[in-house]
Amino acid sequence: MNKKTVEDVDVQGKKVLVRVDFNVPLSSKDPNDDITVTDDTRIRAALPTLHYLLDRGAALILCSHLGRPKSPADRQFAMDPVAARLSEILDRPVLKMDEVVGDEVTAVAATLQPGQIMLLENTRFEPGEKKNDPALSAQLAVLADVYVDDAFGSAHRAHASTEGVAQVMRAEGKPVVAGFLMEKELAALGTAVANPPHPYVAIMGGAKISDKIKLIENLLDKADVILIGGGMANTFLRAKGYETGTSLVEEDALPEAARLLETAGDRLALPIDLVVADKFAADALAEIVPVEHIGANKMALDIGPATLDLFRQKLQGAKLVVWNGPMGVFEFDRFAAGTNQLAEILAEQASQGTQVIIGGGDSAAAVKKAGLADKMSHISTGGGASLELLEGKTLPGIAVLDEA
Ligand code: 3PG
Repeated sequence: MNKKTVEDVDVQGKKVLVRVDFNVPLSSKDPNDDITVTDDTRIRAALPTLHYLLDRGAALILCSHLGRPKSPADRQFAMDPVAARLSEILDRPVLKMDEVVGDEVTAVAATLQPGQIMLLENTRFEPGEKKNDPALSAQLAVLADVYVDDAFGSAHRAHASTEGVAQVMRAEGKPVVAGFLMEKELAALGTAVANPPHPYVAIMGGAKISDKIKLIENLLDKADVILIGGGMANTFLRAKGYETGTSLVEEDALPEAARLLETAGDRLALPIDLVVADKFAADALAEIVPVEHIGANKMALDIGPATLDLFRQKLQGAKLVVWNGPMGVFEFDRFAAGTNQLAEILAEQASQGTQVIIGGGDSAAAVKKAGLADKMSHISTGGGASLELLEGKTLPGIAVLDEA
């Protein structure tokens, strides 16, 4: 994945279309509220690219999707709060447009001067965005001389503002390159995919194994050990014949789980004890039990202390660790210990030189919640994108960028 980056193009006096992933959490779903951005991590992650381009005399046309609006009538997904936050962080005006494309956008883009920043409206307000409509891509392409993709979080989407516009601009002979965030994500996750140092330990969690079967298969080729926690561990435990009580188990995935267990042998480590409760609730009474004694009326909501000890041992001496998915229901304090303590173990390992990569989504949220984000080697800004990359898939938003 040797791609050209912003450093390979001269942007002085040029108009640069930057696809960012400003799909950030918002304070409200009610369009009548004064909506604000509640976590600006993704906005801050794009700053190195934005500063670099601005410092070199580019005029910036930024675009992103926000949420999953059904139509432009879903005003709660308008980009205004994002524009306000970006302007505050950059301490510069951000010209927020009320459309994605159209006469006004074209006219304003034409007058844009070096150092100025324009933010287009939510790309998903255009029906052509998710259809990767070439007409929409062409309307975007005409706005700029250079395309920079810094939207790693959207790299798995072949949409008009990601893959589509890049194709059109490349066909027009315009540079189509990666931003610094894209470059950083590819360096970190790309290592795990292409050339991992060993020992390489992968840690998988989250609710479902059905979403992650391909990922586990690919990891079995690359990693030395895979540690399994979270809801998905229950399906594996059931496949091994344990009574799992009322725990979340994917019945349909049991044959796949059995097959993976057989392929993996002792390279797949399952919990040996669990924190169980009689209901899925923040105030449910927690009890630690060995996996043999979950009980018919109990559900597993976290991994237990003996499992953490086992995982700590397996992590000893690892050169690379990739973690995707929480170990339990970390949103409930009583069932967050497994996830938090694992984050602490990984922070400690990172301080001793292990490369620790955290996949986006829930694991990133858990590490942030535990206050350990700055201790990890890399926290991905892409949930779905990091998963698909680790599965070994080619991501359309990356494939389309100019080769170095
Ligand atoms: C994400 O948050 O994972 C990306 O922004 C992609 O969003 P999507 O899943 O709505 O396409």
